[in-house]
Amino acid sequence: MPEQDITQNQEELLEKLQQQLSEVRQTGLDLLRTLQDEEGLQQWRSNFLMRRAVITEIMRNLSNLPPEMRPVIGQAANKVKKELEARLKERFAEVKQAALTHSLNSERLDVTLPGRKPQHGGLHPETEVLREIYQIFAEMGFQVYRSRDVETDEYNFELLNIPAHHPARDMWDTFFTTKEGVVLRTHTSPGQIRVMREFAPDPIRVILPGMCYRYEQISARSEIQFHQVELLVVGRNITFGDLKGTLNDFVRRLFGREVRTRLRPNHFPFTEPSAEMDVECFICGGEGCPVCKRSGWLEILGCGMVHPTVLKNGGYDPEVYSGFAAGMGPERINMLRHKIEDIRYFWANDVRFLEQF
Ligand code: DAH
Repeated sequence: MPEQDITQNQEELLEKLQQQLSEVRQTGLDLLRTLQDEEGLQQWRSNFLMRRAVITEIMRNLSNLPPEMRPVIGQAANKVKKELEARLKERFAEVKQAALTHSLNSERLDVTLPGRKPQHGGLHPETEVLREIYQIFAEMGFQVYRSRDVETDEYNFELLNIPAHHPARDMWDTFFTTKEGVVLRTHTSPGQIRVMREFAPDPIRVILPGMCYRYEQISARSEIQFHQVELLVVGRNITFGDLKGTLNDFVRRLFGREVRTRLRPNHFPFTEPSAEMDVECFICGGEGCPVCKRSGWLEILGCGMVHPTVLKNGGYDPEVYSGFAAGMGPERINMLRHKIEDIRYFWANDVRFLEQF
């Protein structure tokens, strides 16, 4: 090839490369101005400055150029590269600043605002009073015995000295199941027989809390389900004095030191003698009001000395052992305490009621 042509070709090549560099610079800068996030900038970097970029390509091929062209193109490419790098760095800083400003504006936190009150759950009033009763008896050395909700006729009645067809059964309106002889317990007393049969002839000091069921007309005063807490003490030489002392102590711990109590004779088939315990009406202080029906007294539990037949059914010799028992309704205690007028509130789960506790 004649020297003339070679020079001609070189000049064309030089021009072409310079043209390429100038185009890359211009498109690079134009594009860079439009990018708004880091991801775009990273992508831009890889397109314009990294391995497969035009500039990189040109620099990589320098050694193939005629020697006198190398410094010219090398310097020109380097200059463009430096400029693009510098602009990229600036854009990175700008984008970062913009993101920061944006997040400061959108997530503004006013530390002087008053806090939001967290919603607290609370204990059901029935849970509260039950726990209090457990606590008081625990301090007196009573254990908790859980008996079953579904009972047999035998345990719920017969072993408690309430034979079939006996008029005393009218005291308990019973839910019968479709299985002959199986009922929902109408009181916690059948648990007495179960504890005795489990522990005889050892002494017993337990409370038996649990849900009871009665087939009754639901009204402000009666529900078809309600709690009872049963008390049972069996041992040698247990007397009516023990019954009275224990129950008085319990009542004072629950209602307060000054509350007076009285025992009224009554009848239950499974105790002999039987009584009911009244506390002085703490609403009127004994003066007489609608809650105590003007009597000045509120009935809170039934009690008595365990009937010899019941002791025998539990596996204790009534000539050697004696015991006392009691049964109370915690809902009733709760109603008296908080002046709740309708027992149906307890299991209706109306938050407007529950929130008040
Ligand atoms: N079980 C009786 C009832 O549901 C309450 C009761 C009375 C329990 C006297 C007793 C007691 O242990 O001695 O009406």
